[in-house]
Amino acid sequence: MDLQDKSVVITGAASGIGAATALHMGALGAKIAASDIDLEGLEDIVSHIKMAGGTALAHRVDVTDFDQVTELMAKAKETYGSVDIVVCNAGIGGKEQRKTAEHTHEDWHNVIAVNQTGVFYTMKAALKHMKRQGHGSIVNVASLAGLKPSGYNLSYSASKFAVVGMTKSAALEYGKDHIRINAVCPGYTKTPLLDKLLDFRPEMEETLRKLIPMDRFGEVDEIAEAIAWLASDHAKFITGQTLVLDGGTSLL
Ligand SMILES: NC(=O)c1ccc[n+]([C@@H]2O[C@H](COP(=O)([O-])OP(=O)(O)OC[C@H]3O[C@@H](n4cnc5c(N)ncnc54)[C@H](O)[C@@H]3O)[C@@H](O)[C@H]2O)c1
Repeated sequence: MDLQDKSVVITGAASGIGAATALHMGALGAKIAASDIDLEGLEDIVSHIKMAGGTALAHRVDVTDFDQVTELMAKAKETYGSVDIVVCNAGIGGKEQRKTAEHTHEDWHNVIAVNQTGVFYTMKAALKHMKRQGHGSIVNVASLAGLKPSGYNLSYSASKFAVVGMTKSAALEYGKDHIRINAVCPGYTKTPLLDKLLDFRPEMEETLRKLIPMDRFGEVDEIAEAIAWLASDHAKFITGQTLVLDGGTSLL
């Protein structure tokens, strides 16, 4: 697959799925604008892309701040000439896993701000450029938790169902503008986000594995490859869809 000279903006690119996507798309020839709140992690990823002969820049952005997201898109446009692909990946889980009546207001507001409002802000800022240039492709990183219920996780569940809804609604609006908007829905994937959940409830590891017919967690590279394909012209008639990568969990 070839992403030669495509300008790609990725949020949450310092770790996990976002970092793997930045490295993979950079290796395919894309020019990467990598963003995250973690500048140190970001600079490490950017230097890996450059050492492999790729093109990348690091820009510290908190996706809950619309002005920062707007600046990120402007920076990508100014540096690379266009904003061809945007991957809305930044996301967090709640600090605590509790049933709905005990779900904390803090977790609710933080998770909705990053996972839901952050995707809205990032799409909004990206679409301004994409509409003007007459093309674009957005991939939102939702979750299996955005398609199926998951207990002890209300804000995360609400935010990921919202990402799926925003993906489909925006895709409907921008088809005529040659802008495709899709989502990937990973199941349980080995990243620091999953580690945090398992640190809180270690007994969950065995329980979760039993929910995966392929009997293993997903790898970040597997998600990154799907994101790159969905974003690329190889998927040029696909819009408003959710691509599930879960080792079969959704079959149960
Ligand atoms: N790991 C899984 O099992 C799994 C499953 C389904 C979906 N997802 C989704 O994949 C995406 C990536 O998660 P991951 O597992 O790679 O987690 P991760 O914790 O490894 O990476 C998330 C990145 O987002 C960044 N981030 C957090 N808040 C931010 C903010 N306000 N602004 C900008 N960046 C911010 C973090 O600094 C981090 O680098 C998330 O949207 C997550 O919900 C993960």
